[in-house]
Amino acid sequence: MTGRLLAGSRVVRRTLVLGAVAALATGLAVAGTPRANAAADTLGAAAAQTGRYFGTAISASKLGDPVYTAIAGREFTMVTPENEMKLDATEPRQGVFNFGPGDRVYDWAAQNGKQVRGHTLLWHSGQPQWLQNLSGSALRQAMIDHIDGVMAHYKGKIYAWDVVNEAFADGTGGRRNSNFQRTGDDWIEHAFRAARAADPAAKLCYNDYNIENWTSAKTQSVYTMVKDFRSRGVPIDCVGIQAHFTSGNPYPGDFRTTLRNFAALGVDVQITELDIQGAPPATYADVVTDCLTVPRCTGVTVWGVRDTDSWRSGDTPLLFDGDGDKKPAYTAVLDALNAAVPGPSPSPTPSPAGSCTATLSAGAKWPDRYNLGVTVTGSDDWIVTMTVPRPAKIIATWNVSARWNPTTNVMTARPDGHGDSWGVTIKHHGNRTWPTVSCRHA
Ligand code: XIL
Repeated sequence: MTGRLLAGSRVVRRTLVLGAVAALATGLAVAGTPRANAAADTLGAAAAQTGRYFGTAISASKLGDPVYTAIAGREFTMVTPENEMKLDATEPRQGVFNFGPGDRVYDWAAQNGKQVRGHTLLWHSGQPQWLQNLSGSALRQAMIDHIDGVMAHYKGKIYAWDVVNEAFADGTGGRRNSNFQRTGDDWIEHAFRAARAADPAAKLCYNDYNIENWTSAKTQSVYTMVKDFRSRGVPIDCVGIQAHFTSGNPYPGDFRTTLRNFAALGVDVQITELDIQGAPPATYADVVTDCLTVPRCTGVTVWGVRDTDSWRSGDTPLLFDGDGDKKPAYTAVLDALNAAVPGPSPSPTPSPAGSCTATLSAGAKWPDRYNLGVTVTGSDDWIVTMTVPRPAKIIATWNVSARWNPTTNVMTARPDGHGDSWGVTIKHHGNRTWPTVSCRHA
């Protein structure tokens, strides 16, 4: 009888000690119990409970419309400038950059706690006249200079860049005939290498349409290119699948296979420009559910807020009608997100080729904050930078030496005698999207 009591009190003591260590480690007086997620009532919050973002395209010209900004501010956690970061907008004359419209979208997103997808650095469309007049090595140099100029301006601020957009032809699966293509097949890999050097913190994506159907020649060609890039160490982190669905290009039953197969190459996949003719609720739910079943499908972006904001408004393809009211497709998407298994899915963020890798894993969760574990591989002396999506903040760390920059919302961490496993506590302030991390040798 005495023995059993003693054993019991030892168990209690050990639990108390562990509890004290946990409280010290997080710098918090009280460590609460992790809670299951309740159904969220916005797209962004519902997606965040699965560790994903839900985004929209934003036009700078509409930021003065209070109905537009109210919906966009409430529902979405990721912003893609619809036209403001394209080549004709950012470099209207060679070497003369204009970041005014892009900054208006960026600033609105940052002030409202949203992350930004950079769209797009090299595209056959939306080219200023001066660029169309160039060819050969002069054009190649201008392409690289453009990447350098735009990415330097937004360095450290962009979740992912669509480095190259729509470089493949419909039907045949060959490369699209463009001025860029006429500089040589290797223009895409040169663009990605330049992009990595210009901003190592941004994920680098290839983005295209009509690559939803796994069996189409175009999808196969893009897949072959990404596989080749991964095998040769050309830096690519993600594939953006536009998903503009119409009766001519309907949602394919094998979309999930496409997402899964790209992800299996070691890249993230993102649905980047979703709109569906007529906005059938079941199809919207299917697309979102497809993403939710693939751990490396990190988010979905719809191409505009209201039907009247759409580039093909006649198709009424979006989630809100012209009055800003929620359509049945909205409810279908929200329900699909809320039906997902709660909790972020671990998604390793790739690092530049030849350097180290920092991988995040889910830790304890509380109503106002959550823990992430970080494991570093590939180096003993490393520097990890962690960019936290505003308004979330890192409030504590353990087993690491870290500096927090409140202006950029970026933490820089070094081992400093600790090991390669450490962690952070993040106060989410409503934004549960995981930070992005990158690792390099010290
Ligand atoms: C579209 C915009 O929505 C329009 O406002 C603009 O006139 C043309 O471009 N694929 C893309 C997007 O990658 O950039 C395009 O956006 C739609 C197709």
